[in-house]
Amino acid sequence: MFLASTEFAAKTAEAFWWITGIMMFFLVGITFTMIWFVWKYGRKRHPKAEQIEGNMKLEITWIVIPTLIVLFMFWKGYEGFAMMRRVPPGAMEIEVEARQWAWSFHYPKAGITTSELYVPVGTPVKLLMTAPVDDVIHSFYVPEFRVKEDCVPGQITHLWFQGEEQHIEGSPYPIFCAEYCGTDHSRMYTSLHFLPKEDFVKWLEQEVAHRYRPIEIEAAMDPSSQDLVDCGAADLYATYCVSCHGKAGEGGLVGGARSFQSLADWKRGPSVPDMFVTLTEGLDGTQMRSFANLSAWDRFALAWHVASLYSGTDRPNGTRADFERVIQQYELDVQQDMPRPLDIEGTIDEMIEDAQ
Ligand code: CUA
Repeated sequence: MFLASTEFAAKTAEAFWWITGIMMFFLVGITFTMIWFVWKYGRKRHPKAEQIEGNMKLEITWIVIPTLIVLFMFWKGYEGFAMMRRVPPGAMEIEVEARQWAWSFHYPKAGITTSELYVPVGTPVKLLMTAPVDDVIHSFYVPEFRVKEDCVPGQITHLWFQGEEQHIEGSPYPIFCAEYCGTDHSRMYTSLHFLPKEDFVKWLEQEVAHRYRPIEIEAAMDPSSQDLVDCGAADLYATYCVSCHGKAGEGGLVGGARSFQSLADWKRGPSVPDMFVTLTEGLDGTQMRSFANLSAWDRFALAWHVASLYSGTDRPNGTRADFERVIQQYELDVQQDMPRPLDIEGTIDEMIEDAQ
């Protein structure tokens, strides 16, 4: 019934069964004692009630025994809890961002961001979790591992787990949001994949090389090019956009989002290169954020996908010159730099040195 898939799960199940067992013992014991007393002390067998005044031994017994039982249950729970909070040294760190309504996983050393979590087996993995400051509380939950932790705007929380050989075959495992966070809370789920160590390294290298290779204008201008098709724009859209941006502006935002069925009133233009800029920089004064963590290829594929949602045929998707302009503006025709997290302490040191 409870697969002891990991030590966490085993500890959780152990505490659960101890507590359930103790509860069942008292439920059955108290119920039968009551029934027995009803029978034994009913008016027929015990016509005259007696008043009993205090019984020191009895009172000490029912204070001491329940106290010991409760302490025992606390200890059983604490054992598992302590194990979950103590991250083994040398754990691999991955940054998790929860927002309405998507998960993203950032591998700081590789500089890539994914919408599903990939980890090697046999290595403790530490997740550093947060949510954007203007977002709400979410909760990262992997039922299989019995791990759950809130993702709080502006704070960093953590949890850790470790997969073993048997989890490779069982992958992927579902990851849920376990804290009601708005309209699409129920759709805020993703997957956890375990890979053998060598495969994980290969996966990481492929992701890095693939995501940051130079943009070729012919491919970027052609939504049916293999390079763009490989980005899986529909999945990216489903992961990053659809909860706020339905085809016609429907979605979770108060007041709705812009409709992709209209060409009027775009803050930046509706062409594919314009949308690329918006995806890269976000839109000031709106809830549209920067998605610069996605590779340039992904951003072009997404822009084309949004363009494809327009039902008319008169959409200005941008001229070759528009594409060239954006490619030049962001120097996309060379291998891209991986976005790296800002080394804040290092930056401050540099500023101090510059000032001296
Ligand atoms: Cu995020 Cu519920």
